[in-house]
Amino acid sequence: ISLKPYNTFGIDAVARRYACFSSVDELALLTGSSTQKEPLLILGGGSNILFRNDFDGLVLKNELKGIELTGEDADYYYVRAHAGENWHGFVQHCIAHQYAGVENLSLVPGNVGASPMQNIGAYGVEIKDVFHELEAWHLNDRSLEKFSLVDCEFGYRESVFKKKYRNRFVILNVTFRLRKQPVYNTQYGAIEQELEKMGVEELSIENISRAVINIRTSKLPDPKIIGNAGSFFKNPVIGQEQFDLLKASFASMPGYPAPGNQVKTAAGWLIEQCGWKGYREGDAGCYDKQALVLVNYGKATGDEIFTLSQRIIDSVQQKFGIALEREVNIV
Ligand code: FAD
Ligand code: EPU
Repeated sequence: ISLKPYNTFGIDAVARRYACFSSVDELALLTGSSTQKEPLLILGGGSNILFRNDFDGLVLKNELKGIELTGEDADYYYVRAHAGENWHGFVQHCIAHQYAGVENLSLVPGNVGASPMQNIGAYGVEIKDVFHELEAWHLNDRSLEKFSLVDCEFGYRESVFKKKYRNRFVILNVTFRLRKQPVYNTQYGAIEQELEKMGVEELSIENISRAVINIRTSKLPDPKIIGNAGSFFKNPVIGQEQFDLLKASFASMPGYPAPGNQVKTAAGWLIEQCGWKGYREGDAGCYDKQALVLVNYGKATGDEIFTLSQRIIDSVQQKFGIALEREVNIV
């Protein structure tokens, strides 16, 4: 079947087989011995995937649903969301119930099950900040395993699931630890500006969510209109010395302090400086409002997007000596 409706890049790749599961039993059946040799891809919302080729295997779309309050203590609610819940739907559920902590992550596309994969983050919050534990299905051992915060080895757009345990586990549900008394996170400059523009006098998780939604819709393309997978590359983290040298030649180069005497710089800025912003070849392009986002204007192939990403990597390497790393999962 065509995977076009199942990936936000809108790439018309074909999967040999496709199935959905809405319980662990169904998952166990679908991944039983007869199909073990076949390549397997677990799919959520398809919002962080680029299909470079057709997929000669089984695509399993997870449709595990449900959100439950599993416990509480003096300061926190513990809320379990199943992997097939839409992420923003979960955020809205939390806001409606006054569970605080995920409001800055409003409108991140995709499903709950993929959120730990790359430790999704936006506007000063990452899921590691609200994560309690998760349950996953080990595809070879055919058993359930629990992962604590430490087990997940979360980093900037990283976790054990993205590299070390790639394709080994299916994340089934995630339990979040959410505050009873909100701690507002507005240090990300754009949020404060937006709140001011909105005329907000008293902070609430609702109006922070609203501010984040406004910012996001003003600069990120809506995948329903223009195919994309959000930031295509990670923001590179470089040594302070290298940053100082570059800053001497490129005074406007952005830099934010990162752990270990390092500096996180802005991939979008590097790409824009190389002249790619707004570039288009056929239907593959670099978005004109946000250079970190590669887009499919309609009929681009996965390989065309990938080739464009390689040209961008090469030119940033040549001009700045910085190696961009892809954030999107290439299949
Ligand atoms: P998919 O694309 O379906 O899958 C991503 C990867 O996770 C694949 O390798 C897949 O095999 C694996 N996977 C999925 N579900 C499971 C599971 N249950 N168990 C094991 N493996 C699984 N990301 C951010 O961090 N911050 C942002 O601000 C942000 N903004 C975005 C804006 C736009 C417009 C778009 C299109 C994307 C954006 N993203 C952002 C990326 C994307 O939203 C996240 O990576 C999201 O978590 C992907 O979820 P998904 O369900 O679509 O995952
Ligand atoms: N910039 C440019 N030109 C551009 C784009 C950006 O010069 O075309 C520079 C500007 O200096 C700007 C800075 O880059 O101030 C940062 O840009 P922005 O605030 O748009 O954020 P980003 O670094 O491009 C990151 C995440 C996003 C997340 C936002 C908000 C990564 C790879 N991306 O983008 O996450 O939503 O911050 O927190 O870390 C995603 O992962 O898919 C994603 C969209």
